[in-house]
Amino acid sequence: MTNSLELKSLTRREILRSASAAIAAAGLGKLAYAQAEKAAPAGEDKSKAFPEKFLWGCATAGYQVEGNNTNADLWMMEHLAGTIFKEPSGDACDHYHLYPQDISMLADLGFNTYRFSLEWSRIEPEEGFFSNAELDHYRRMLATCHEHHLTPMLTYSHFSLPRWFAIKGGWEQAKAADLYARFCEKATKHLGDLVGYASTMNEPDIPQLLNWINLPGVPGGLSVAQMMASGLEKVRKQVNAPEFSDLFMGDPKRTRDGLLAAHAKGKEAMKSVRPDMPVGFNLAMSDDQPAPEDSHLAEKRADVYGPWLEAAKHCDYLGVQTYSRSIVGKKDLPSAKGVEVTQTGMEFYPECVEHVVRYAAKETGVPIIVSENGIATQDDSRRVEYVQRAVTGLKRAIDDGVDVRGYIAWSLMDNFEWMSGYEPKYGMVAVDLKTQKRTIKPSAAILGNIARRNSL
Ligand code: FCB
Repeated sequence: MTNSLELKSLTRREILRSASAAIAAAGLGKLAYAQAEKAAPAGEDKSKAFPEKFLWGCATAGYQVEGNNTNADLWMMEHLAGTIFKEPSGDACDHYHLYPQDISMLADLGFNTYRFSLEWSRIEPEEGFFSNAELDHYRRMLATCHEHHLTPMLTYSHFSLPRWFAIKGGWEQAKAADLYARFCEKATKHLGDLVGYASTMNEPDIPQLLNWINLPGVPGGLSVAQMMASGLEKVRKQVNAPEFSDLFMGDPKRTRDGLLAAHAKGKEAMKSVRPDMPVGFNLAMSDDQPAPEDSHLAEKRADVYGPWLEAAKHCDYLGVQTYSRSIVGKKDLPSAKGVEVTQTGMEFYPECVEHVVRYAAKETGVPIIVSENGIATQDDSRRVEYVQRAVTGLKRAIDDGVDVRGYIAWSLMDNFEWMSGYEPKYGMVAVDLKTQKRTIKPSAAILGNIARRNSL
């Protein structure tokens, strides 16, 4: 009888073969892949090389890939009547069990870094109860990265929260920063020695960012943030928790204050355990460009990024996450007619990476890591072009002296894209949700080649 796990996992030889086939299918020929099997030869055109020790990786987030995070606030919200989630996360990519093969696949593709996150709701499922077994799970993940010579980049909080924490008021509650710092301390004691780069939190500027994006076709204008907030009272009633709040639905101002305090205390807690651990966070940044008339660009930047760029000045690095550009008028304007848009409606605009790293480095003066970039598309050849243009732009910025330390693609595999469910395909590797079988797309092999060569 065949072991079902064997069916899902790919051997190293199969990964190399299927990466090669993926490239051939993309019409790029065998040559590109053959070159990739060796490191860049001596005398390789230096003008194409990235700095030594450049971090090349792919990212995931616990909630989006692990499956069965039943103690998380989002799990609860997915299962409410009238939920705003398109579908429940369920088993997701079962990365909770399949991480050994996924991490090994990432290394075999040519990458040297894996960005993933802790699921706080697994580690502290009830307030004050910390599970050593779950902490050990993440320790095994970190150890697996090291076995494969991957630098682990660990995000301590990526959107989802323990249910109990959200029920008590999420980031708005008075004790939020202390509760978060206690979790950071416990996790760092258990895991810190294996961490390459730590991040306190993923995209804490989301509540403000969503307020600059209007839903299409609503007369008078309604921002995504307002739309989400309008569902808050209903959720509070349904779960019988008058204080319930989460990153997407809470009061944006109070949530930001809570997040800023939690970031500061969380970082302090991490450093108290391991002072030399590089700590930063990941900021959502659009490539903001002024509309020809009535542009509120400066106001948007001050509102969304201002306090966070300030906080980044006290960090060891800043992770920037960018997907497209925004033309900023009174709010972000809808994409111009006729431009190519991705599955999530964003303009196809890979040059955002170059522009955002230049801006973030200038504002903060700290090393920058592109910790997420990619597109949602069913057509992987568009992803190939996107990624190639994105890293070419990144190289221009580096050549001009911008201190960029890494490029991490979103995402390693197709996964649960929050409220949009499984429809948007951000993955470099496809996942069959029924069998959990992974299939490498050409984009994974092509970016993996660039990573292996450390050169365009
Ligand atoms: C970012 C999130 C990430 C994923 C991508 C598409 O905002 O950090 O989890 O959803 O967008």
